[in-house]
Amino acid sequence: MATDFAGKTALITGAGRGIGRAIALGLADAGARVVLLARTAGQLDETRALLRERGVPLGRISLVPADLADEEDRDRAAAAVLATGRVDILVNNAATVEPLGPTIGIASADVRLAFEINVVAPAALTAAVLPGMLDAVWGRVVNISSGIVAAPAGMVYRPGGVDTAMQAWIRQQDPERIGALHERFNRNFAEGTLITPEHSAAALLAHLAGDDTGAIWDVSTAPVGA
Ligand SMILES: NC(=O)c1ccc[n+]([C@@H]2O[C@H](COP(=O)([O-])OP(=O)(O)OC[C@H]3O[C@@H](n4cnc5c(N)ncnc54)[C@H](OP(=O)(O)O)[C@@H]3O)[C@@H](O)[C@H]2O)c1
Repeated sequence: MATDFAGKTALITGAGRGIGRAIALGLADAGARVVLLARTAGQLDETRALLRERGVPLGRISLVPADLADEEDRDRAAAAVLATGRVDILVNNAATVEPLGPTIGIASADVRLAFEINVVAPAALTAAVLPGMLDAVWGRVVNISSGIVAAPAGMVYRPGGVDTAMQAWIRQQDPERIGALHERFNRNFAEGTLITPEHSAAALLAHLAGDDTGAIWDVSTAPVGA
C-alpha cells in the first residue's frame, strides 16, 4: 500500500543509526517531517546528510540530541519538539540491550537504567505526544520490540485470569479512568471465567516438575487438570 505522510510530523528515537535511521529515511521519503532523537549529535548529523542526499528539504528535518535515560533531558527534548508543533507519528525505537550476561552479578542500577530507556522513556514520550494526537483525531505510536519477548531467557509465568484482590480492585475502578478494562474485567467475573489462585498455583507447580526454561508458561497450557 502506498503511503503518503505529507504534512505529518514523525518523532523517531534512536534515529542516529541502524533501524531508527532507516525508519526516518522511509518516513521522510513518504513526505513526513522527521524529528531525529539520539544522544550522539554526530550520528544525527549523518542521518540528516543522508536525508539531504535524498532531496529532503532542511525544513522537514529536526535534530534533537538528548539522553532518554535522563528524565530532565527527556522532558526538555519533548517540550522542545512539541513547541514546534504536534507529533503525529512517534516511533519509540531507541533501546539498550544492557545489562547482558549472567544474572548473577547484574547490578540493579543497570536494570534500572535499562527500564528507564526501554520502558519509562517510551511511556513518557507517548504521554507527551498523545494530547496532540487526540486533538487531531489521528496518531500513530510504534514501540519497537524484539523477538526475545516470545522466547525470554528466563521462565515467565502467565497465571491466567485469577479471582484475587487485584481483579476486584480493577473491577471497582471508575470506567472513565480505566476505559475498556472495566467492561472486560467485570464481564470475565460475571461469566465465571476467573480461576482460583490454587488452580493457577497448581499449574505452575506442574511446570516446575519439568526441566524447561526460557519459555512463557501459560496456565491455560499447563499439563494438569487443576
Ligand atoms: N538489530 C537487531 O537485530 C534488533 C532485533 C530486535 C529488535 N531490535 C530493536 O530495534 C531497535 C533499534 O535497534 P538497532 O539495532 O538499530 O540499535 P542501534 O544500532 O544500537 O541503534 C540504537 C539507537 O538508539 C539510540 N539510543 C540508545 N540509547 C539511547 C538513549 N539513552 N537516549 C537516546 N537515544 C538512545 C542510539 O543512539 P545514541 O547511542 O547516540 O544515543 C541509536 O541511535 C531497538 O529497540 C532494538 O531493541 C533490534
